[in-house]
Amino acid sequence: MAAYEVHTHDYDVVVVGAGGAGLRATLGMAEQGLRTACVTKVFPTRSHTVAAQGGIAASLGNMGPDHWQWHMYDTVKGSDWLGDMDTMEYVARHAPEAVYELEHYGVPFSRTEEGKIYQRPFGGMTSEFGEGPPVARTCAAADRTGHAMLHTLYGQSLKQNAEFFIEYFALDLIMDGDTCTGIVAWKLDDGTLHRFNAKLVVLATGGYGRVYFNCTSAHTCTGDGAGMVARAGLPLQDMEFVQFHPTGIYGPGMLITEGVRGEGGYLTNSEGERFMERYAPTYKDLASRDVVSRCMTLEIREGRGVGPNKDHIHLNLSHLPAEVIHERLPGIAESARIFAGVDVTREPIPVLPTAHYNMGGIPTNYWGEVLNPSEDDPNRVVPGLMAVGEAACASLHGANRLGSNSLIDLVVLGRAASIRAGEVVDAAAAVPTGPDAEVDRILTRFDDLRHASGGTPTAELRLEMQKTMQADATVFRTEEALSEGVKKMEAVAAKLDDLHVTDRSLHWNTDLMETLELTNLMPNALATIEGALARKESRGAHAREDYPERDDKNWRKHTIARLEGNKVSLSYRPVVTEPLTPPEQGGIDPKKILPKKRVY
Ligand code: FUM
Repeated sequence: MAAYEVHTHDYDVVVVGAGGAGLRATLGMAEQGLRTACVTKVFPTRSHTVAAQGGIAASLGNMGPDHWQWHMYDTVKGSDWLGDMDTMEYVARHAPEAVYELEHYGVPFSRTEEGKIYQRPFGGMTSEFGEGPPVARTCAAADRTGHAMLHTLYGQSLKQNAEFFIEYFALDLIMDGDTCTGIVAWKLDDGTLHRFNAKLVVLATGGYGRVYFNCTSAHTCTGDGAGMVARAGLPLQDMEFVQFHPTGIYGPGMLITEGVRGEGGYLTNSEGERFMERYAPTYKDLASRDVVSRCMTLEIREGRGVGPNKDHIHLNLSHLPAEVIHERLPGIAESARIFAGVDVTREPIPVLPTAHYNMGGIPTNYWGEVLNPSEDDPNRVVPGLMAVGEAACASLHGANRLGSNSLIDLVVLGRAASIRAGEVVDAAAAVPTGPDAEVDRILTRFDDLRHASGGTPTAELRLEMQKTMQADATVFRTEEALSEGVKKMEAVAAKLDDLHVTDRSLHWNTDLMETLELTNLMPNALATIEGALARKESRGAHAREDYPERDDKNWRKHTIARLEGNKVSLSYRPVVTEPLTPPEQGGIDPKKILPKKRVY
């Protein structure tokens, strides 16, 4: 291995990733006086949260009656009873204060006539514990809510003197036995290498949408945190649950917000029929995403898709008043024009269910502490390591996430992680220096990849992975497709040993960076498809045609996937079924959240 000069930095906390969760955690830690660094591979305001359009869920009740318990109930039902009740209660309860906090930090929310934060209906958000009409719970800054949040949180973090290391690519965790003591990162512009020692590392690296060929995710969504965790011998949780958003633009996959349906848009098939009325008579186009995506897929399969190949669906909004489109949905009008050549005031948008969100990730409790469950202790915490946001699985979303619950997840749980950090990180203590041997191991791996001289170009192998996942681990799944998919993915992953990196330079080496990203995507893909093959039931976004029913007796449990090289081994841990607060102290009535059939 070439000798690399390594620059050393010491911090109380190092946050990896600067999307909504990373920035909210960074801000919270810095506010408490912890010396906080945020290491990010892209400029903070270019993180994928920027693409979140429709809004952030909180029971403010600005448009009509609402209650945090209704929000919790909807989240439980949306999760298809796989979510953890403690996390779901914590988030639903704290959502309103987290949104007001954002408002005070400066997020420019859209306003009602009375000047309150504007809220729109989103799928699966209901009143009266699912017995009442849809509720407008999703707080919006037009259709650019994530963009507004990122700018605000970045500005606030700078104000609190958080230090940003921008365009630094985190290579791996430094582990001292069971404890995380930092990371090693590669600075992309000048090629230098950096060791960050820290009392606490927080992974906020986002999802791994790019394991799929068609996704709404940015090119940067490569599951880097989960890749690092898997290489450290730590597990991933519930990876089989991948959300397909009903309305990605047919072809390029760009997101068209569910807010369109919240504002009155609707889906039609080739017969011009509003088919969701047939499948979900009460909530129609505002049923939860997994349900709508399956119905669209069925319509296409049964020959009622639109277009010359009858392979997509129409999203209609031309009937909406022009001011609604201009004031509430300006971004999607632009996206539809650029990416589909459609004028939304006159024509429908061609859409298709598109991979959008990963419910699974690095297992954590609702404080963000990473878990490494053992047989004796399903809640064993990894010292020095937290994860937040889409990278994490605190199991707020269980088997299916409700739209606009991701942004609230980022801020409530990003904030919770900083509260916990204030309790567990001693600002006066010395920063640990992990073993040098770990840094050598990380740099040897980096150097090996930099000089990889096999016969398989990175781009070719990535495409093979994406096509396999798209074909075999998609909206509907079967034993046959998944078994075939697992075999194909094992063969694809084996080719990581045969990669060819053409560019050997250290600065601005996109070939090497994409290779590192591919090595992160691969464990995510393997855990997803193996978890899906093993789970013999249908629950939330995991729809098995050969096991169409949910099976609570055998499968109401979290999947834990551990990787050794490319080999996945699966075990399970219990779902948290107890909310935080008993009913006599103001908690939800446990009878309301007992599992039942999930209909919309
Ligand atoms: O449809 C949307 O605006 C996406 C929101 C979300 O995924 O929460």
